[in-house]
Amino acid sequence: MISHQSAKEEIKQAADIVSVVGQFVQLRKAGENFVGLCPFHGEKAPSFTVNQDKQMFHCFGCKKGGDVFAFWMEYHSLSFPEALRDLAERYNVQLPEKHFTAEEKKKADYREKLYSISELATVYFRNELAHPVRGKPGRDYFKRRSIPHDIIEEFRLGYAPKGWDGLKRFLLGRNVSLETALAAGVLKRSDKGHYYDLFRERVMFPIMDLTQKRRVIAFGGRVLDDTLPKYVNTPETPLFHKGTCLYGFGAARRAIRETGRAVVVEGYMDCLALKKHGLKEVVATLGTALSETPVRKLKGIGKEAVVVFDADEAGKAAALRTLPIFLNERLSARAVVLPKGHDPDSFVNSNGREAFSKLLDAAPSLFDFYMDHKLGQGTENIDHKVNILEEILPILAKVHNETQRAMYIRRLSEKCEIAESVVISALRRAKQPALRDRQSSEIKRGLTSRDTNRSIGEIQFLNLLLHYPETVADLKGRHCRGLISDPMIRRIVDVIFEGSARSETMAFETIQERLDDHEDRVWLREFGFRPAFCSDREVKQAVRDFIQKAQKKKIEDSFKEAMGNPQALNEILKRKVAARGPFGS
Ligand code: UTP
Ligand code: MN
Repeated sequence: MISHQSAKEEIKQAADIVSVVGQFVQLRKAGENFVGLCPFHGEKAPSFTVNQDKQMFHCFGCKKGGDVFAFWMEYHSLSFPEALRDLAERYNVQLPEKHFTAEEKKKADYREKLYSISELATVYFRNELAHPVRGKPGRDYFKRRSIPHDIIEEFRLGYAPKGWDGLKRFLLGRNVSLETALAAGVLKRSDKGHYYDLFRERVMFPIMDLTQKRRVIAFGGRVLDDTLPKYVNTPETPLFHKGTCLYGFGAARRAIRETGRAVVVEGYMDCLALKKHGLKEVVATLGTALSETPVRKLKGIGKEAVVVFDADEAGKAAALRTLPIFLNERLSARAVVLPKGHDPDSFVNSNGREAFSKLLDAAPSLFDFYMDHKLGQGTENIDHKVNILEEILPILAKVHNETQRAMYIRRLSEKCEIAESVVISALRRAKQPALRDRQSSEIKRGLTSRDTNRSIGEIQFLNLLLHYPETVADLKGRHCRGLISDPMIRRIVDVIFEGSARSETMAFETIQERLDDHEDRVWLREFGFRPAFCSDREVKQAVRDFIQKAQKKKIEDSFKEAMGNPQALNEILKRKVAARGPFGS
């Protein structure tokens, strides 16, 4: 059986970080690195950097970074053992069991239990749907909503029958602890401590994650009639964070990549109806407003989102609320507002795919839609005009495409009958606070940056050791440590020299791993992305310079010590004599 460490290495060989990350983030080559928009924080210019040689990523904005495992964990919200297992499976590497710390293992086991309960519940709901008698209401319902068999299969739809304990008994029969089932969100517990099924008499929609296995992490369940609440969803659990998920994302991912667009609808049924009509790039929000996290994930794989809203006021309001998110995340977005009385499901079922595609193709940009909505309530009242302008300007300030912005400015000035120059100067003022904030935060970052306190010499010294590991042996034991006054750089250099003392050639990553302090590790990772300060030809000279400087510094130091403190000089001499013994050496 191979060791845990070698399995990890083997996975790293196979799972090239650029191709793994590239599946989720659009990367482009920039010098030695690949860059893209960070999937972990909102940003406008790409500071998310991937280095193929080092097999590392680092975001210069949010400071998240690490190897391919770190990416996988962060992106999919997984623990280390889960990420390891996932990637091992994907890249056909055999994993030894039990090489995790007790705590890692405990956490992973617990989450694994939650996954397996979700999977068991999915199986149960599917069995129930297939049951000749108990499943009939569910099958009839899907028939009524014209959901065909292949969609039921692909999305693993099911049915939770009438009764309070069907799933509970099913789980008990498989030795599942009810308390864990409660934590997985499929059971509830009464005040008196009785466990019972959360989903009863509902058609079931499993919500799956984005990994290749598409593991079920939660459910939505719909009543068969008009009873309220229409949908019940799994509460927040360790596996499921509602605001960060999109229904059908895993199934749509490839199509989103291929077509470059994601069609975003509001409901499970809308998503499935469009799928049935052959629209593959469709995902649904889970009844919550679209938030940053899923938009960031969409942005990683598609070029634009087309968001489909109901015609009612609530639908329009929802459309308007998403605008700042798309602008902030810089994902182009267009808006489709359906004809009155329709949602995507009813529209596509009565008008067909072609008609729906036409709506998609003709969809105006979300900002156009927003302006029309605001200005549509046209008015002669000057105060009202000013109000509208003031509302629109901060949002307009976030439109980053200059041509687009110029176009909007013209339209705004026409509609409001305000001179373009006035709009432009008002816009400048609206932009200022943001600009000021950014500038001041940049200045602040610059000031607090720990680099400002470090001498160029020690920065270059570390840079040399990292870029030209062969210099480590030459520089070690030459009093170079004395050149470094910064405690963090000392800690890093110590790690490098210690490794070399054991004649190890240390990978950049190993150096990081041996640092105790998290901040040191982050700093070093970022530092590692800097190019070498000298060329191959200059290395030898640089080594000589450092050794000379170190020697000089050492002499100076001992001289200083002796000058300032004759007592110390005496002590040193005495110790030296004692160490040599009476006969010298
Ligand atoms: P809709 O009521 O528009 O859903 O709510 P729908 O999918 O079109 O439903 P039907 O079956 O065609 O009538 C949109 C989404 O809001 C969430 C669900 O995710 C739903 O798909 N929702 C809605 C809830 O979570 N709870 C509710 O009570 C209603
Ligand atoms: Mn509907």
